[in-house]
Amino acid sequence: MALNRKPATSVVCWLRFLLILLSSYGIYGTKTDVACLKQIYHSFKDPNGYLNVTWNFNNKTEGAICRFNGIECWHPDENRVLAIKLGDMGLLGQFPLGIQNCTSLTTLDLSGNGLNGSLPSDISKYIGFVTELDLSDNNFTGRIPELLANCSYLNDINLDYNHFSGQIPLNLGSLSRIKSFSVANNNLSGQVPHFTSPTIRISSDSYANNPGLCGEPLAPCGSQNKKPRLPYIAGGAAGGLTLIIVLTGIAFVYISKMKVIRRKQDDPEGNTWAKRMKRTKAVKVSMFENFVSKMSLDDLMKATNSFSNNNMIGSGRMGTMYKATMPDGTFLTVKRLQDSQKTEEQFLSEMKTLGSVKHQNLVPLLGYCMVKKERFLVYEHMVNGNLYDWLHPSEDETKRLEWPTRLKIAIGAAKGLAFMHHNCNPRILHRNISSKCILLNEEFDPKLSDFGLARLMNPIDTHLSTFVNGEFGDLGYVAPEYPKTLVATPKGDIYSFGVVLLELITGEKPTRVSNAPETFKGSLVEWVSLLSENNDLHYAIDKSLFDNGVDSELSQFIKVACKCVSPMPKERPTMFEVYQLLRAIGEKYHFTVDDEIMVPTETSDVDFPDELIVARD
Ligand SMILES: *[C@@H]1O[C@H](CO)[C@@H](O)[C@H](O)[C@H]1NC(C)=O
Ligand SMILES: *[C@@H]1O[C@H](CO)[C@@H](O)[C@H](O)[C@H]1NC(C)=O
Ligand SMILES: *[C@@H]1O[C@H](CO)[C@@H](O)[C@H](O)[C@H]1NC(C)=O
Ligand SMILES: *[C@@H]1O[C@H](CO)[C@@H](O)[C@H](O)[C@H]1NC(C)=O
Ligand SMILES: *[C@@H]1O[C@H](CO)[C@@H](O)[C@H](O)[C@H]1NC(C)=O
Ligand SMILES: *[C@@H]1O[C@H](CO)[C@@H](O)[C@H](O)[C@H]1NC(C)=O
Ligand SMILES: *[C@@H]1O[C@H](CO)[C@@H](O)[C@H](O)[C@H]1NC(C)=O
Repeated sequence: MALNRKPATSVVCWLRFLLILLSSYGIYGTKTDVACLKQIYHSFKDPNGYLNVTWNFNNKTEGAICRFNGIECWHPDENRVLAIKLGDMGLLGQFPLGIQNCTSLTTLDLSGNGLNGSLPSDISKYIGFVTELDLSDNNFTGRIPELLANCSYLNDINLDYNHFSGQIPLNLGSLSRIKSFSVANNNLSGQVPHFTSPTIRISSDSYANNPGLCGEPLAPCGSQNKKPRLPYIAGGAAGGLTLIIVLTGIAFVYISKMKVIRRKQDDPEGNTWAKRMKRTKAVKVSMFENFVSKMSLDDLMKATNSFSNNNMIGSGRMGTMYKATMPDGTFLTVKRLQDSQKTEEQFLSEMKTLGSVKHQNLVPLLGYCMVKKERFLVYEHMVNGNLYDWLHPSEDETKRLEWPTRLKIAIGAAKGLAFMHHNCNPRILHRNISSKCILLNEEFDPKLSDFGLARLMNPIDTHLSTFVNGEFGDLGYVAPEYPKTLVATPKGDIYSFGVVLLELITGEKPTRVSNAPETFKGSLVEWVSLLSENNDLHYAIDKSLFDNGVDSELSQFIKVACKCVSPMPKERPTMFEVYQLLRAIGEKYHFTVDDEIMVPTETSDVDFPDELIVARD
């Protein structure tokens, strides 16, 4: 082996030497690759700043462009671009003509941006050697250029979700290496090409949602003309009937459109992002334990029906959750993170930390998966959903939580949070406590979800969305000092937890109080504080809880809640204290009988702001 390797290595060395020699003479066009990227950069608007940090053209080192966000080179130390993958970056502009100078390019992915205008008619001059072309999910218009057929290396073409119009050039059928071709959701009409390549698999899905396409695999083209013509109807009665039919038709179209719009609002992107993952289905889901021996993204997609809206079980600042039904009938919860700005490395390191945090009152993180910019977290499924839905059921539901169950939930959740604050090193702040992130298993044992995820978000977005996305119900949970300091602290978590305790005992929502006089417009905390000042605190307690011999528990409980939501952070107890206080109230129920009593560990009990720990980026 060792003997064989030596000559081989020297051949490689010689080849590299030759390559470098050639490229320094400009034969390989590495200078033009830099010019190519420069021109692409200047032709795009990059409102999110995805490019401007890493795309630094002042670095003249060979291979510098290979570190640009979205750029892959043939070799990391050689300025020769292999792939341009700028999907989902919110870029604006037109098809980048500068790409002509990236002569070694084989993959072009500009999907999910806001590019518009038409494609150049002489497109084969620009991407003549490209094998994968993904322009889906943009605003391109005009015709699909005939000369796309001259890009003879093309394997995969995805033009879904644009505004292409006219006929698909029939000569595309001659592309000899084509494997996949999709133009769904455009404005195309006429006959579709007949592909002769033996490797292609094409179904009617590839052509879906275009106004007038025909030909194999769709209906044959002649058929529309052969339809019998409706006889011309004249006369009052018949005319009236037609009018009714037409009106009904319009109403029907209108209603279905409304439905589509509503659907889109649930998940503003539709599921186009899920469709785009088609080619990456083989990506493995990394599991922390051998809970499921092997799982791929494809399995997750099957289990969630391609992340369909029907499988959606919740949505919040951190992302959207989907219920996944595994082949053996068990359930998992898959969370798709909202636009995480962390690099793969940062994400992996956070996953390593979060995967190692285990406690009976935290929802176990089982695994995760990264695909392009998508991040998925796989959790154990909690059959009883979240606490919010139990405390505030909609009118047609009969959900009800008795006092002992509410107390058990409060104690367990306090224990989980106290563990994060006092027994993890470094301390973990939750930063997003609400009754929606307290999940319940079949025994109504509470488990905190979403812990540690705030770190994965773009810090600016997290702060802003606290105020902007009030609709997610987070607004009523934010400590009063936070908008001024924008620093997350343990005391901020305790305030939010206090609001959850108030929800538990009053049965009211954090932002809207149904039991208060109509003239009262404040939040739950403001209402309770007002009652407390007037020594009327008992008015706040959920009436259905009284008269079961638990009145003294109720009044002790609401006092603990009030302490947690003190306007001054210093007056709020620590999480360890909250847990001990609640445990004492619930002593007679023996919820914690077989528990070791929790003791704060010394190292993490220092009360410094979380940003010092978190600001690693
Ligand atoms: C990058 O873009 C962002 C967003 O437009 C902008 O705020 C920032 O100043 C830009 N940075 C540089 C170095 O151009
Ligand atoms: C230039 O790029 C090289 C290769 O990517 C990198 O090692 C070096 O640190 C960069 N220099 C500067 C000044 O950014
Ligand atoms: C390619 O790069 C050269 C400079 O190296 C430039 O003059 C030329 O215009 C570029 N071609 C295109 C199509 O942008
Ligand atoms: C794309 O076009 C649609 C209308 O056709 C428009 O509503 C949307 O804002 C456009 N997107 C971008 C990013 O320009
Ligand atoms: C393309 O989109 C930009 C905004 O991103 C808009 O100003 C421009 O008018 C659009 N051009 C066409 C041809 O639609
Ligand atoms: C495109 O391909 C056809 C057939 O191979 C050829 O005749 C034509 O010259 C090509 N056009 C260009 C612009 O390369
Ligand atoms: C669809 O294409 C036709 C021409 O084929 C054009 O008249 C119409 O305006 C297009 N519709 C849209 C929404 O772009």
